[in-house]
Amino acid sequence: MLSEKEKLDALARLGVDLNLIQDLDILMERILTEARRFVSADAGSIYIRDRGLLHFAYTQNDTLQSRLQAGEKLIYSTFTLPINDNSIAGYVAKSGQPLNLPDVYRLDPTCPYHFDKEFDDTTQYSTRSVLTIPLVSSKGDLLGILQIINAQNGNRQVVPFTPSDEKIMTHFASIAAVALARAQMTRAILLRMMKMAEMRDPRETGAHVNRVGGYAVEIYENWAHRHNVSPKEIDKNRDILRMAAMLHDVGKVTISDLILKKPGKLDKEEFEIMKQHTIFGTQLFMDPQSDFDDAAAQVALNHHERWDGQGYPGHVDVTTGEPLQGITRSNGSARGKSGEEIPLFGRIVAIADVYDALSSQRVYKEAWEEPEVQANIKAGAGQHFDPELVEIFFSCLNVLRSIQKRYQDA
Ligand code: C2E
Ligand code: SIN
Ligand code: SIN
Ligand code: SIN
Ligand code: FE
Ligand code: FE
Repeated sequence: MLSEKEKLDALARLGVDLNLIQDLDILMERILTEARRFVSADAGSIYIRDRGLLHFAYTQNDTLQSRLQAGEKLIYSTFTLPINDNSIAGYVAKSGQPLNLPDVYRLDPTCPYHFDKEFDDTTQYSTRSVLTIPLVSSKGDLLGILQIINAQNGNRQVVPFTPSDEKIMTHFASIAAVALARAQMTRAILLRMMKMAEMRDPRETGAHVNRVGGYAVEIYENWAHRHNVSPKEIDKNRDILRMAAMLHDVGKVTISDLILKKPGKLDKEEFEIMKQHTIFGTQLFMDPQSDFDDAAAQVALNHHERWDGQGYPGHVDVTTGEPLQGITRSNGSARGKSGEEIPLFGRIVAIADVYDALSSQRVYKEAWEEPEVQANIKAGAGQHFDPELVEIFFSCLNVLRSIQKRYQDA
């Protein structure tokens, strides 16, 4: 158990740590883990506000997690609550004040809110003490609700949250809210970047980028299981890779319409210009502080490299696009990266992108039939693509097809 002073010091450090996290999902995970650690709580949830509603966005529960096999994920259904007096979270959202309930099964009958025991009934969990705190931005906007469940004493018995817990968590919530507001803004900006790419090139539709993002994550998860990547690491990479893959071609916004929308085949010069979309995309994500930027840069830069070394842009200085000294072909152009020189996320998005490009109509080509697409990918193993990823691609083709169905072109 930490002393009050130690807790306040830890809170100050936490503020710095939380502000380094860009991705909203990772941030919510970290906020809950830390909040629960501060007050020794078994479970907790975060609700995110969307106008007059609260979305149940993220949850952790050590007791339920311990009933699962190693590596299994806690499956929970998302739901929404109106901001009104009927529910505990709704009441706290409306009042803007923390609420510390020692036992939700013994609420004062005169209080307006009710405890919904459906969750306990379906999961065989026993919720008792619940501390609910509003997450309010520095401007005073309600961002969401932090709910911490079942404080535990040294013998892991459930006890009420103390007034000191309440005080610490109120501090904690104000720090978490700042980080949350920033991560929400980052995500909104990324969505606008995608929208901008779509306005520039109407073929770059939401459906197309969603498919490439979906395929990439599915292929990554299968790869990660084979390589014994920890569930925590997989979870972290899923969301990062999904966004990064969706933005793989965002550098195309700088390519002239004459080339981008040319109905026929590009000539050699035009294709040289088109190739620069990899470098332009990379330059948009040069913040080394951010795991997301790192992944997005990796994907933008490497999604047209080939396993056999015949791809582009190869070993270049990404700030200038010039070949790196000493790693050039005999004609002075950059040597392509090959094999595992190509970062994993680049190798994955290469397959996802070509699978989608071949299956779709483009200004310059018709959609291919599925058997031709498959033959192309199979033949590309060890040439265009990482052979292991081709194997994985075929092992999860059913899931990839279901993603394709989910995101159809309008
Ligand atoms: P994209 O349309 O998203 O295509 C992505 C990748 O899918 C291509 O990368 C290529 O590897 C593969 N691909 C697409 N269509 C075909 C095809 O008909 N046959 C084969 N064998 N592979 C195909 P790549 O070639 O580096 O092209 C990058 C981007 O350059 C393309 O993205 C597209 O925006 C543009 N582009 C490429 N060729 C042409 C063209 O002839 N005309 C026009 N207007 N744009 C082109
Ligand atoms: C397109 O839809 O033609 C562009 C999308 C992409 O190249 O991935
Ligand atoms: C990564 O997660 O991007 C690194 C793995 C690799 O490049 O093989
Ligand atoms: C178009 O480029 O005009 C249509 C092709 C597509 O739907 O991708
Ligand atoms: Fe591309
Ligand atoms: Fe693409």
